[in-house]
Amino acid sequence: MSKLFQIDESQSFEELLKHRDILEAADMIRAGGLVAFPTETVYGLGANAFDPEAGKKIYAAKGRPSDNPLIVHVSNLQMLEQVVRRVSPEAKSLIERFFPAPLTLIMKKSSRIPQEITAGLDTVAIRMPDHPIALALIEAAGVPVAAPSANLSGKPSPTHYQYVIEDLNGRVDAIICSQDSKIGIESTILDISEEKWKILRPGAIGPGELKAFCPELIYEANSSEKLEESEIPKAPGMKYRHYSPNAKVQILSYDKKETDFDLMVKSYQSQGLKVYVIQEKDSKKLAKIIFKEFRRADELGYDIILVKEVRGDDMSEAVMNRIRKAAN
Ligand code: TXA
Ligand code: MG
Repeated sequence: MSKLFQIDESQSFEELLKHRDILEAADMIRAGGLVAFPTETVYGLGANAFDPEAGKKIYAAKGRPSDNPLIVHVSNLQMLEQVVRRVSPEAKSLIERFFPAPLTLIMKKSSRIPQEITAGLDTVAIRMPDHPIALALIEAAGVPVAAPSANLSGKPSPTHYQYVIEDLNGRVDAIICSQDSKIGIESTILDISEEKWKILRPGAIGPGELKAFCPELIYEANSSEKLEESEIPKAPGMKYRHYSPNAKVQILSYDKKETDFDLMVKSYQSQGLKVYVIQEKDSKKLAKIIFKEFRRADELGYDIILVKEVRGDDMSEAVMNRIRKAAN
């Protein structure tokens, strides 16, 4: 059994820094243990990013392929400087503008970050989460915290602590249980390790906001590049099959009318199929519920998940990216 901590996130960072449970969880991280914790995007599974053995434990607990690198979470700029080789003036202005944020930057790594964390790459993914519990935990641990999403490999990222318990109870030292994740989909990943900056994974921080810092920004919406088995993934999700519910996910185009939607539902039902309908027009709300809805549809044994497409803003792009992957 993992130790479960219940911590309310509506406390200040200063209060949380003194919280008995945060201090105990931070000790576990420093000692090479695994602690799942909430962030503003999804729950993460954390370990000391300077400790190669702790890094290996993350892969084992999740059943994650060892060539899929982890994101290193930091709580302040001094810590960030220990993780990366150099912070260029351009990177500095980006960091000052956005961090803490649902934004992960790929930069050249420092020698202090072991290969086990970056899957042998010479770059490292770094993020400062915008969440008081995550920040207090990392700050109290005093070391950067490597953390992938806190789900078993092949399951959707957990946005509620019950899913973390379902996937990882008994496989990790502790789970910090708190409120639901505010955003609901994983961070934007921006590669700034080479001259041309590139969005590798869309998220809540969209290309519109980022272009102010880099007019030449590369962003291929809906890119479906595939990697050979032997290649190291440069962009997340390029090589590994993303989570797909057992139910078949079908997207109903934005242009279709309400009546088309009803017809489609009825047609499936007349074939004796159970149809789970997700029709949320607000892209932010859809992002917040999508992974939970996928899990629920499977729990309840639905055959088809019908999702109405959202359009019109950066968050729509980001959430449709996850839904399209699930529909493939
Ligand atoms: O919102 C998030 O980013 C959450 C929370 C916990 O922070 N974390 C998360 O981690 O989504 P994970 O492991 O599920 O996804 C991290 C992705 C991986 O798909 C990996 O390929 C990519 O980040 N990644 C990590 N290091 C990389 C690197 N050096 N170069 C390119 N991609 C990298
Ligand atoms: Mg993940």
